[in-house]
Amino acid sequence: MATLHGIDDLVVALRELGDVLQPVRVAATLRGVRVDERTLEPYLTWASGRYTRNLVARDDAFELIAICWEKDARSAIHDHADSDCAFVLQRGAITCENFRLALPDAPENRAAELRRTSTRSLREGDIDMRSGHLSVHRVGSCDGRALTLHVYAKPIDSCLNFDEDGSSRVVHARYDTVPAAMN
Ligand SMILES: [Fe+2]
Repeated sequence: MATLHGIDDLVVALRELGDVLQPVRVAATLRGVRVDERTLEPYLTWASGRYTRNLVARDDAFELIAICWEKDARSAIHDHADSDCAFVLQRGAITCENFRLALPDAPENRAAELRRTSTRSLREGDIDMRSGHLSVHRVGSCDGRALTLHVYAKPIDSCLNFDEDGSSRVVHARYDTVPAAMN
């Protein structure tokens, strides 16, 4: 497992991947990476019963977000717009539930079919990868607090959230914290 001196080293490594980040290269950059947590301190915020999204870096090519999962916090079931997404688990334990999405043939019938296909538990250093509208999952902490580092390429400003019956709605992404220099 590779330990980086600081979160800035990860930002530099991601910037070196160029203007269009290839998922396989993002995966290679993230897999097994542990960041010295002292350098993550400015990005760690915790909120009872939910997760927080803390922006670390953003440009036209990607955004890097530290997500802090409070005990038993869980995301909505969601897609990933037109972007590729990868995250690495830094601390704690995370469960990913994967869903198969079947879009309706008839546009007047807007409900999609959603079926849970598998569940995977991540250990520290493990990565998860997603790509686009058909890559649907739900993520949650499963043993106390957890910390994950997410790369979205390109940045995602909105995505779809799903109910278990397949109905969906557009949700705009928001950050709980943004670095002072980017405000
Ligand atoms: Fe996701």
